[in-house]
Amino acid sequence: MVDIPHGNAPLLAAEKIEKWYGKVHALRGIDVKIYPGEALALIGDNGAGKSTFAKIVAGVEQKTSGRLLWKGKEIDISSIKQARNLGIETVYQEQALCPQLTALQNIFLGRTKTKFGVLGILDNKKMATAARKVLDELGLGVGVNQEVRFCSGGEQQGVAVARALLFKANLVILDEPTRALSTKGVERILQFIRSMKNEGIAVILISHVFPQIFPITDRFMLMSRGQIIAERRKEETSPEDLSRMIIEKTT
Ligand SMILES: Nc1ncnc2c1ncn2[C@@H]1O[C@H](COP(=O)(O)OP(=O)(O)OP(=O)(O)O)[C@@H](O)[C@H]1O
Ligand SMILES: [Mg+2]
Repeated sequence: MVDIPHGNAPLLAAEKIEKWYGKVHALRGIDVKIYPGEALALIGDNGAGKSTFAKIVAGVEQKTSGRLLWKGKEIDISSIKQARNLGIETVYQEQALCPQLTALQNIFLGRTKTKFGVLGILDNKKMATAARKVLDELGLGVGVNQEVRFCSGGEQQGVAVARALLFKANLVILDEPTRALSTKGVERILQFIRSMKNEGIAVILISHVFPQIFPITDRFMLMSRGQIIAERRKEETSPEDLSRMIIEKTT
């Protein structure tokens, strides 16, 4: 494992994480650290355990054993709600949002108490103004009162990113964010990731098409069969090098 020099302490440190799904050993004792403002990519073949790790951090699945340290303190992430309270958001294309609700309703979904006070009719104007500002900053032509089912996949991701920015998420997980996106859509999601990094948000990216995400990624972890088998900082690798490593090490 390469030791990454960072001024800051890790936001999240996962130690010796094991996951069994019945008889399937999906994660075999993995160690992952992520730092504020950093984009970490998990790459590797189908079934390597990338999404399983992401789901454990997002509170969707429970680890079988191992430790999770949040800002140095051991924690349990036993639900999506608990992950959200820590400021962990997940952006899956077309899955992060409720299609029948508007952009505004989605952005504030599940937040009964916010920096705008207890949610109620009186706060609507303030919320709409704040949401419109973030959507505009992201360059999205989505109206706050537009139902999300009338948004494209990329626009829906944008709304989910707006939620992460507005509520000052600490960690955002994007699982296959560029899948099924047009070239323009990919550019836009890369721009979203840059905005999040600039805000000091840590980003975990899962992607098969890592040449696309290469420019905005700081560090790559290559997973195979439930283990991390290589780790590289961007400066010491290239998309070609990573492709070669996947072929050599995982087959
Ligand atoms: N809910 C589940 N029940 C049983 N086995 C599962 C479950 N989810 C994942 N697995 C298994 O765990 C292993 C890791 O799966 P995971 O989805 O984490 O892989 P991945 O790296 O995200 O793959 P892909 O690139 O195809 O998305 C696989 O063998 C998979 O079949
Ligand atoms: Mg997956």
